[in-house]
Amino acid sequence: MGMNATFPTNPARKLSLPEVENVDGPEARELIRQRVAFRCKVKDWKLRDWSLPYLKQRVGHVKREFIRVADHEHITVTTAEFLSWLEHDPGWKSKHMPAGFVGPPIAVHDPQYAVLLDDFVLPSYVTKSWGGGIMIRNSRANAAGAFYDTPCHYEDNVRPALYIQIAGKKTLWLFAPDQAPYLGVEPYPHVAPYISNMADACASPDRYPEIANATCYEIALEPGDIVHWPEFWFHWFVHQHDFQMNLRLDWDPPSFELNRLSASWAYVNGLAKALGGFEGLDKKFTALPEEVQALLVRIERHLINDPLIVDGRAMTLERFRAGGQGVDTTAYTPPVK
Ligand SMILES: [Fe+2]
Repeated sequence: MGMNATFPTNPARKLSLPEVENVDGPEARELIRQRVAFRCKVKDWKLRDWSLPYLKQRVGHVKREFIRVADHEHITVTTAEFLSWLEHDPGWKSKHMPAGFVGPPIAVHDPQYAVLLDDFVLPSYVTKSWGGGIMIRNSRANAAGAFYDTPCHYEDNVRPALYIQIAGKKTLWLFAPDQAPYLGVEPYPHVAPYISNMADACASPDRYPEIANATCYEIALEPGDIVHWPEFWFHWFVHQHDFQMNLRLDWDPPSFELNRLSASWAYVNGLAKALGGFEGLDKKFTALPEEVQALLVRIERHLINDPLIVDGRAMTLERFRAGGQGVDTTAYTPPVK
């Protein structure tokens, strides 16, 4: 998360997102099938009236476990108390670590919060294996008046998402996987589980002039707005000075599309498996001969940047014969024995 004195922006070409009438209408379902991002309005879902007092009343009694950082004691607090930390204390994470749970503060798929499922209907395309979380951030608690941004990333759970803004305003930029070559995506083999889940360019655009060649969708999110993005789409938020609350739903897609990022993701997963798993991957990777490390990183870079590798339509004999535009013919020189 970055903090900026002025509202950050980026030089990419901005498009507006297709808008649909109904989050589960035929139009939305077709866009989901085609992996196209869209926006719409909350309308009938009761969650348009969600607020902190409402959540405290409905699920405030549910007990949560934390580890107090000061003395490593396990403590139990109510969800109501936890919600107050989220509301008033931007530094709560430095004082209390979640014990026995990871992920969003309130996971709506968790049976102990099941009562919240009365407030919305899961769209028909949400598969059985789904998850949802309520996220809360108090950007108002920032006395310096700086703008916080959530750096450009794709979700490491590689799930498509519905993002529902309940309170506060923010700007969202969405980049499709084919924009990855412009985003300063660095092969980064020592962070499990995915090499390229962060695009550094979006945190410091002046270091990456090629971002000006990218195209993104720009969305001003206000309460009641829903945005859908498919798996492997980069998203980058800049939060206004508001109390922010949103619900995020995501689910396992029935299949993956082959694109630059799914290819590099599959490659890195295979690589990690071949090296014995993600645990301690950085050490295992750096134990490899240097020229092997260089080659492995180079392969991933090609999956992200070389249009011939992942675009089936580009993969014609004519194009290969015409000089292998983008094909690296110097790939690997074995070490001298
Ligand atoms: Fe995300």
